[in-house]
Amino acid sequence: MAPNYSFVLLFLEILNNCLLVLSSPDLSVSSESLEQVPPSPVITLKMPTEFNFKQAKLKAEAFYKTLPETALTEATMLVSELINVHGYPCETHKVTTSDGYILTMHRIPYGQNKKENREVVYLQHGLLSSSADWIISGPEKGFGYILADAGYDVWMPNVRGNRYSRSHTILDRDDDEFWDFSWQEIGRFDVTAMIDYVLKETKQEKLFYIGHSQGTTVFYAMCSEKPEYNEKIRAHFSLAPLAYASHITSPLLNIIAAGASEWEIFLNMVGIKEFLPNTGFLGKVGNILCKEKSVMEVLCTNALFAIAGFDHQQMNETLLPIIMGHTPAGCSVKQLLHYGQLINSGKFQAWNYGTSGNEKFYNNTLPPTYLLSKVTSPVYLYYSKNDWVSAETDVLKLAGELSNVQEKILVKDGQFNHVDYLFGIDAREYVYDDVIIRMKKH
Ligand SMILES: *[C@@H]1O[C@H](CO)[C@@H](O)[C@H](O)[C@H]1NC(C)=O
Ligand SMILES: *[C@@H]1O[C@H](CO)[C@@H](O)[C@H](O)[C@H]1NC(C)=O
Repeated sequence: MAPNYSFVLLFLEILNNCLLVLSSPDLSVSSESLEQVPPSPVITLKMPTEFNFKQAKLKAEAFYKTLPETALTEATMLVSELINVHGYPCETHKVTTSDGYILTMHRIPYGQNKKENREVVYLQHGLLSSSADWIISGPEKGFGYILADAGYDVWMPNVRGNRYSRSHTILDRDDDEFWDFSWQEIGRFDVTAMIDYVLKETKQEKLFYIGHSQGTTVFYAMCSEKPEYNEKIRAHFSLAPLAYASHITSPLLNIIAAGASEWEIFLNMVGIKEFLPNTGFLGKVGNILCKEKSVMEVLCTNALFAIAGFDHQQMNETLLPIIMGHTPAGCSVKQLLHYGQLINSGKFQAWNYGTSGNEKFYNNTLPPTYLLSKVTSPVYLYYSKNDWVSAETDVLKLAGELSNVQEKILVKDGQFNHVDYLFGIDAREYVYDDVIIRMKKH
């Protein structure tokens, strides 16, 4: 079959502009002490015709001037600083995986409710994200704070490759080998190591696992590959579950899926890298996303929203600078490609190396599929109709194969989308309060 060279060309274009990364407006440059990603927001001089980044940036800056000062300072803070500034305690823990990645976990040990023997909650962020996801909306609306105030001991991991987990005992992060991982390694090495660390540290036997998006993918992969981890889970709450992916409507993920084999040829040529989308690339997606002229346009310059879309009604504009300052937090190209493979195959399976590679790694022409019946921990699935990534059909298929589904909960708001689970104005009302009520049953 002849490869579709347009994707190779798109890739060459990305390579060409590799250093011209636009991640966020200048206002959101983070502190020097941080292992920062991307290095610094630079705006390409070659403006893409599809989407006017310069205009979006100017609009955002003008809009930011109308916001309270705190909204801007919080954009540049680290997670621990952000938590402290709101009067909550924060601990930072380092965990080294068996394959050498050094990961950072943030912990809010308690909130307003300091009861004894607090149960542990493990809050796993998704693709391109970090522990910041759970606190960006502040104490009233951020799930991390809400859980702490409800009397839980809250642990917020950061997986390999994101801005807080970019070190390795041997590898340098400029090595291709550092980026040679997908979410299957995150589930296998990172999540297992962090769960074990948390249980040891807190002297507990079980924890609540709450995940968003990829944070649920890694849970399902882990529990099917290492079923003994089911025993460590009190209950799992999947916010926007993602295992089967063939009904994803995200334009960016579908573009990636359509060119998946060409992307891989390209990867073999240039090596495996961090995913750093440039303006040319995002411009192609931005014109699909951002037909409307509003300050929300600035979100079209952000890879997370290019993947997941956004929802005007649930988006709190005051949070824009903070969101832009903390996401995207970094991931490998391979993580995205692996989702592309799931879209194409319709299966929930390990990384596909191609026929000969699969024979070498799996002793089979096909990669193994994850057996979801081995996921025996109690699972609650929260999904919504307007989710570009976590499609209802795919969620229901997943639910049909898991061994211990407690409930499937369709979010009441028909417009609720993939990132609203994190930053949505009504996320607390639609999702978080509901999760806490159900946690009390376990
Ligand atoms: C590979 O698969 C074949 C056929 O299923 C089997 O006979 C053989 O023992 C396998 N080899 C290894 C090393 O697992
Ligand atoms: C928007 O976010 C700001 C900053 O966290 C908060 O003060 C405000 O109450 C939020 N607005 C809504 C409608 O949630």
